[in-house]
Amino acid sequence: ALNFSDSPFFCYNSAVEIIRSEIMGFCFGVRRAVELAEDAMVRFAGTEVCSLGPLIHNRSVLDSLKEKGLRIIGEDELESVRDGSAVIVRAHGVPPQTLRILAEKKCILIDATCPRVRASQKTVEKKSADNCTVILTGDINHGEVKAVAGYAGDDFILVQTPEDAARIELPEDSRAVLLSQTTFSQSEFRVIENILRGKIKNLEVMDTICPATRERQTALAALCSRVDCVLVIGGRNSANTVRLCQTASALCPAVFHIENASEIPADAADYARIGITAGASTPDSVIAEVENALKEMR
Ligand code: F3S
Repeated sequence: ALNFSDSPFFCYNSAVEIIRSEIMGFCFGVRRAVELAEDAMVRFAGTEVCSLGPLIHNRSVLDSLKEKGLRIIGEDELESVRDGSAVIVRAHGVPPQTLRILAEKKCILIDATCPRVRASQKTVEKKSADNCTVILTGDINHGEVKAVAGYAGDDFILVQTPEDAARIELPEDSRAVLLSQTTFSQSEFRVIENILRGKIKNLEVMDTICPATRERQTALAALCSRVDCVLVIGGRNSANTVRLCQTASALCPAVFHIENASEIPADAADYARIGITAGASTPDSVIAEVENALKEMR
């Protein structure tokens, strides 16, 4: 019988190279939120600790926090927050109305609002108080948008698409400020900005898009030029992970969106150079697991 164990054919995949994107995984705000939550689980042991909405778009991190006792409640289920419990506000932030309700319930507030989101909230509050129309680009269903919008007065316009921007009509002497959800697409923001500059004479533009997203996108584009296949690691409900997949798909013929190592497609090992990147809510441990599993596939 032939003994294949020494056959060079079995070395076929030994040339597989795994290349990590230079920037990937947790952004500053998400890392901070997870650390604050981990700390709260210890500091407030014996008290109910809950988070308003999922703290992070990553199942494995959430499962581990839940095992430690974290209760995740929907943002619209505030009535179920027990008086005196410890409540973690996630990186997306919450509207001021929510903070008021938590204060009435005498909750211990652990504010993990990302400092960048907090800065947008403060700007919106200040501009609204100054009778300036606030225009925000973003997704109406996104927690951050709801949280930032909560700081605006009545003179607030949400723009989700360039078509929305084209429909805006303001009196000629209006003053307006344009800012953005931190994870909005930079190119779409520029298109919307150009439309509005043509319509509003007194428009202040504040690009509040977080560089974390841009840096991961730029690093991914560089990665795509060096690999035959890209694995994008992150939650399916993570908007920035989905956007990384879209970018990779335009630049690389084989792109797989996986949440963890168990989802690595069997044919990944067919590629000689595999690139890996990860969304801003993917923990280092999950990235390491994927990398190790790929090495074992060789
Ligand atoms: Fe903050 Fe930017 Fe992350 S706004 S939560 S550091 S994507």
